Amino acid sequence: MLSNISGSETARFLDLEEKYGAHNYHPLPVVLDRGEGVYVWDVEGKRYYDFLSGYSAVNQGHCHPAIIAALTEQAQKLTLTSRAFHNNVLGEYSQYITRYFGYDKVLPMNTGVEGGETAIKLARRWGYVKKGIANNKAKIIFAEHNFWGRTLAAISSSTDPSSYEGFGPYMPGFEVVPYNNLAALEKAFQDVNVAAFMVEPIQGEAGVVLPDDGYLKGIRELCNEYNVLFIADEIQTGLCRTGKTLACDHENVRPDILILGKALSGGVLPVSAVLADDDIMLNIHPGEHGSTYGGNPLACKVAMTALQVLKDENMAQNAEEMGNLLRKELENLQSPVIKSVRGKGLLNAIVINHPNPDAAWVLCLELMKNGMLAKPTHGDKIRFAPPLIITEEQVIDCVNIIKRSLQVLK
Ligand SMILES: Cc1ncc(COP(=O)(O)O)c(C=O)c1O
Repeated sequence: MLSNISGSETARFLDLEEKYGAHNYHPLPVVLDRGEGVYVWDVEGKRYYDFLSGYSAVNQGHCHPAIIAALTEQAQKLTLTSRAFHNNVLGEYSQYITRYFGYDKVLPMNTGVEGGETAIKLARRWGYVKKGIANNKAKIIFAEHNFWGRTLAAISSSTDPSSYEGFGPYMPGFEVVPYNNLAALEKAFQDVNVAAFMVEPIQGEAGVVLPDDGYLKGIRELCNEYNVLFIADEIQTGLCRTGKTLACDHENVRPDILILGKALSGGVLPVSAVLADDDIMLNIHPGEHGSTYGGNPLACKVAMTALQVLKDENMAQNAEEMGNLLRKELENLQSPVIKSVRGKGLLNAIVINHPNPDAAWVLCLELMKNGMLAKPTHGDKIRFAPPLIITEEQVIDCVNIIKRSLQVLK
């Protein structure tokens, strides 16, 4: 704990979490109790720019008024029926989201990782029913340094020991190839048991790793050639974060299975969705997959509004413009501590160049002191991903905060 917070309100909340909560996170020592737009406030009343946006769940900005209005209105009418009965919002939502993204069908789930699990089940089933893979032989290919959550299936495809070590045995039928390597992918596709390749168009948790131009197109072509499904995990890259509605749109590529989550609710409640055409989706029948909360009317109303707001407020365009500005201004700092600046739209990261292995954490503490919240990922990288409604003036203000904070690493 930081010495200057002992005895404070902040310290009281930190102590409660430490004492009664599992120690599976290492948050910055800040306790937030309010959010609006690009800002959050701590329990001491201090305001910060939020440069993490709930790991890109809060693309639309904190407590977006239209999303909160949809939430509160629906919450007073009907929140959950389970799928044992129909509700009067699911059909409208299904039509809305399938038209929005151009797929035949949607399968609604809650968290992102459930979206990934669902996509894999769909791909395996398609592999058996449509591709003719022998029973229990289906393979799913993943990219090295992937991240799609914390379930046993998700960690079974992980190449990060802190994710998988000590949690085995692992899910069979998974194989990993290097990211951004079409030759390795084609080699893996020689196996006729491969049902799908599941990939993030830009690797978020790995530290905002961008593939070469043409990678997504190349995946599409290989998947067509070898009759393999292309599953795009757009849970972090989707919904305008990278300057287009989907990151796949940068290469005009349409995945066979699209997974969405996070900002699908604007950070209000867990909502995820898996989109695919009938040829894939209709191989799962009643009783074979589901979730108590998936497709609940509250989530459906919130998701429709969250998607509409992205369009109404041109958030893709703003993400593109503000991302370009942010990266240009960060480059202009010419700081020896910043090894590189990378990203697309408002999904960005800086790589820190400093002898202290904790330099990124130290910088984040200083940013916090100066009114900006960001979090290191994989030691030396810091993600800069503010809500997509950020203005030019606010971007400049944030770059000034970053400039001032870099002094701490001098
Ligand atoms: C690309 C990607 N997929 C899946 C997930 C898992 O989402 P959730 O934490 O909602 O299960 C994440 C979470 O960070 C993610 O970044």
